[in-house]
Amino acid sequence: MISLQNITKHYPGGIHALNGVSIDIDDGDIFGIIGISGAGKSTLVRCVNLLERPTSGRVIVDGQDVTDLTGAALRAYRRRVAMIFQGFGLLLQKTALDNVCFPFLASKGRITDDDRAKAKELLARVGLADKANSYPSQLSGGQQQRVAIARALACDPEYILCDEATSALDPASTQLILDLLHQINKETGTTILVITHSMDVVERICNNVTVLVHGRVVEQGPVERIFADPQDETTKALLGRVSWNA
Ligand SMILES: Nc1ncnc2c1ncn2[C@@H]1O[C@H](COP(=O)(O)OP(=O)(O)O)[C@@H](O)[C@H]1O
Ligand SMILES: [Mg+2]
Repeated sequence: MISLQNITKHYPGGIHALNGVSIDIDDGDIFGIIGISGAGKSTLVRCVNLLERPTSGRVIVDGQDVTDLTGAALRAYRRRVAMIFQGFGLLLQKTALDNVCFPFLASKGRITDDDRAKAKELLARVGLADKANSYPSQLSGGQQQRVAIARALACDPEYILCDEATSALDPASTQLILDLLHQINKETGTTILVITHSMDVVERICNNVTVLVHGRVVEQGPVERIFADPQDETTKALLGRVSWNA
């Protein structure tokens, strides 16, 4: 379980990106964090994998306070938490297979035959068995994101953080990626944190959701309840129930 406890993040110049965010994400859940651009979603997700250190507050994972981890302990923690994002983040000069193998190289300094076999299995799992030797430029956006998901799975993560993972994709590719994430969650119990500005994405895949406005939680709970009976004006606007200027 990931427990974010009263997280604040201030950037130089008086930017208060997060202002006391507390969220509990249960194991096995698909949990959404939604908000408009600038709400603090990416900052929050980067505090979870400690690419950013919170200014204050704690990140507790399975009862362990990871907020101040450094060195080998930090690297070990990061292997438990994979991330995929809008821009896919693939190495353009490497094939799909080598991209999926990259975490092995990064963690051990070399790639074994077993690693390559596992990477091939992962590519097959995301429906790209025939694209192992393709370069990212030869793949569609949806295919590139599937390579990124295969790469994320290489370290058998307990958590997958998705920061606007489908925002650059067309509706059909979006559906494929959401189905894939759903299937991974069902088959492996991997907890998935979905960061998005799209209520549609939340409705299709998430069980629970937090609405973030100016770095604060304004509403959270089961998706069904929030969709049926939104309380906050921003939630209503995101759902299209009121106009932004109302
Ligand atoms: N590295 C940074 N340095 C300074 N300000 C930042 C940095 N990253 C984000 N911000 C600011 O923090 C706020 C939240 O940004 P972000 O977390 O990217 O929001 P979102 O992902 O919801 O669009 C914005 O005002 C943004 O300009
Ligand atoms: Mg963002």
